[in-house]
Amino acid sequence: MSNPTLLILAGDGIGPEVMTEVRKVIDWFGAKRDLVFDVSEDLVGGVAYDAHGKPLSDETMAKAMAVDAVLLGAVGGPKYDELDFSVKPERGLLRLRKEMDLFSNLRPAQCFDALADFSSLKKEIVTGLDIMIVRELTSGVYFGEPRGIIDDNEGGRIGVNTQRYTTNEIRRVARSAFELAKKRGNKVCSMEKANVMESGILWREEVQWVHDVEYPEVELSHMYADNGAMQLVRMPKQFDVIVTDNLFGDILSDCAAMLTGSLGMLPSASLGAPMENGRPRAMYEPVHGSAPDITGKGLANPCASILSFAMALRYSFDQGDEATRLEAAVETVLADGVRTADLMQAGDGTPASTTEMGDAVLAALEASL
Ligand code: IPM
Ligand code: MG
Repeated sequence: MSNPTLLILAGDGIGPEVMTEVRKVIDWFGAKRDLVFDVSEDLVGGVAYDAHGKPLSDETMAKAMAVDAVLLGAVGGPKYDELDFSVKPERGLLRLRKEMDLFSNLRPAQCFDALADFSSLKKEIVTGLDIMIVRELTSGVYFGEPRGIIDDNEGGRIGVNTQRYTTNEIRRVARSAFELAKKRGNKVCSMEKANVMESGILWREEVQWVHDVEYPEVELSHMYADNGAMQLVRMPKQFDVIVTDNLFGDILSDCAAMLTGSLGMLPSASLGAPMENGRPRAMYEPVHGSAPDITGKGLANPCASILSFAMALRYSFDQGDEATRLEAAVETVLADGVRTADLMQAGDGTPASTTEMGDAVLAALEASL
């Protein structure tokens, strides 16, 4: 059998710096665990725009469709702020999500014991926190038509976006949430705005239908998304799996992320339907962005990207034990007190560089053998 294939799209800002560390981790698994990947690299975002005039070339899109998993760094930066909307770096990312049909976006918000002090919430509220946000990623207001900015013919303009969900789009993401819940705390909370939006009413009804017909054994509750945001900061440990639409998921996952102390620690997986080889179409990326303020300074925390690769091991390559090994290595490093700048407070001393953090994870992996 041929080796599984990975496409690294490091992108902009700190993307290349953190993906260099991921590459070392991938190579370690090849050398030490006999998990050899065929890795290729290409451009996405602003760097792709610089090279091709588009944030994702058709050739790169075709490569993404052909590999077993895509590992993405980050896209965007101030240099590209003035670009036309249609060629902004973010459009490259949205094209990947849409054309790969990655409808289920898994964003775990887990609080590492060693980092509980970094949360903006009290330690007892976040210690042991382990939430999985499942965000619908290919529909809703991000892609709904009509959209645009039009003249109102009275000297003003109208900005239009459309929130739109179909039965099938809701059911398939609900299924992935229930499947995950069965392997975790067996609880799903679905969030929408059924009190003001018809798409929210449909969302609630369809999630309930999937529950009643296919997953009656999982505990399901519904919450308005604004209340959800409030509950996330009030008592986050009440949640196990949260399932929600594209826009609410974008917002709620940033909120949940901050509970854990640092965006620099949070991975994500975006999964689609199974391909011919049975693996889901998949892209893995850190939740943090391109962080232009620290780009090129060796300050970025590579853990979110490294943990995203752990998610790839688990969800694309059926290597749950090796994923756990990698996650445990990151925990060990944190428990040993290794800290990148994002995990430090003023007066804490000299932070570890991106490379030092990556090397510490490799050392912990080595020690795990
Ligand atoms: C995210 C980001 C993206 C989004 C941006 C970069 C387009 O905020 O992945 O959460 O809004 O989905
Ligand atoms: Mg976001």
